[in-house]
Amino acid sequence: MGNDSSKIDFDYILKRYLPDQNEKRFKEQLSEEIIREVNRKLKEDGIDGDSILVGSQSRGTELRNSDLDIFIRFSKAYSKEEMEKIGVNIGFDVLPDGVAKYAEHPYVSGKLQGVKIDIVPCYKVEMNSTIISSVDRTPLHTVYMRKVMDEKMRKESVLLKLFMKRQGIYGSELKTSGFSGYVCELIIREFKTFENFIEHVSSLRGRLIIGSREMTGRFNSPVVIIDPVDEQRNAAAAVNETNLSVLKVASKFYLNNPDQFYFTYDEYVDIEIKKARESYIAILRFERPDIIEDILFPQLDLARKSVINLCTSKGFHYLNSYVTLSSDYMDILIELEEGILAKFEKREGPPAENPNSVSFINKYRDSKMKRRGPYINNERVYFDIYREEVKFTKILRNNLDKLNFGHNINQIKSSMKIIDSWNRIKDEKTYEEFMKFSSPVLPP
Ligand code: UTP
Ligand code: MN
Repeated sequence: MGNDSSKIDFDYILKRYLPDQNEKRFKEQLSEEIIREVNRKLKEDGIDGDSILVGSQSRGTELRNSDLDIFIRFSKAYSKEEMEKIGVNIGFDVLPDGVAKYAEHPYVSGKLQGVKIDIVPCYKVEMNSTIISSVDRTPLHTVYMRKVMDEKMRKESVLLKLFMKRQGIYGSELKTSGFSGYVCELIIREFKTFENFIEHVSSLRGRLIIGSREMTGRFNSPVVIIDPVDEQRNAAAAVNETNLSVLKVASKFYLNNPDQFYFTYDEYVDIEIKKARESYIAILRFERPDIIEDILFPQLDLARKSVINLCTSKGFHYLNSYVTLSSDYMDILIELEEGILAKFEKREGPPAENPNSVSFINKYRDSKMKRRGPYINNERVYFDIYREEVKFTKILRNNLDKLNFGHNINQIKSSMKIIDSWNRIKDEKTYEEFMKFSSPVLPP
């Protein structure tokens, strides 16, 4: 099976990326303190609930400097509003500098002594019960994984997480649409070791499917992994096809030449870029609204697709696109073969045998937009017709009203800036990122 992976020092990798004893002890104490504090407040107010540590930290699969996920479980006797209100209030008591965020329920996210902490209210539910929300399932993940994983499998999960991170496909948030930590653990639960799994995907054709035929058959996402705590759910629903493909290629490269590189996600790879690029590039820039990434990202992606559709429908030759989302602006980079179209377009008419060919010819024969024609190629009738506008920037501006960029971005569409002069483009961070982007990420 390919090359030998024994040259990789896995102990070194784990030592480098796992928390050391100090960090472990510190985080344990901190989470115990928070849990005690939350439980005290619940008791003080006579609330039927408790708090627990969940997430990778509770399952021994956390990396160095990872966050703490603390959930407050409420009895189902509370209404959703009550639960959210009490939960968020306690969250702010514990994290006075925190901010309210929103998943399926609101929750509080903040920092204590340099550690990122999420305090999330949820309902206390049983395995495979009529589950109320995906948030409610999270504490069950901890119960399940603690039961089925041993120390060896936890280490294998960490290696898989590192591999996914190196490839930029770790994380289930919309911007990444990749593999969550829990999904990595479910994979190891099935395949036992990192290498077994990598061998499996290296020769995988089609979708990645884990679970009984009966349950998995109901899903059609690229990756289907039945969640053992709620068999109605695909735990890997977030993974998109591109990321599964990245994993397929990366694992082939890994097996051909196993290298420590594949686990060192924080090591910077400098890719030299050829500056001159004889194409047309435009960066469309919007000011970043104060809205979370999971809401903005799908809109940015929609906007990107709308612009691409406009380009191809107007006759441009589309090459590539790239999206960046930073704290103060959002960019859509569009690359076309050229930014200016020919002065006329070749307008295709009906087949000669079709009665409409006559009306098509009559429509354009005396039109002042006519450049040449009519003429016939094989079975169809054509005219060359003048274009009113030939520049990408003009065409985009003229059609901006008609393009759907999503609810929030539509509102700021008219203040869009376009950067498309070569001198400016080549100094833009987005351009550099676009040129340096490589997937799979391979050892230098
Ligand atoms: P986290 O995103 O913090 O993941 O979500 P994690 O497993 O702790 O991994 P790292 O180490 O921080 O990256 C906390 C928990 O929420 C549930 C899982 O149980 C996860 O462990 N969760 C999160 C999901 O079920 N699905 C998701 O897409 C995200
Ligand atoms: Mn976590």
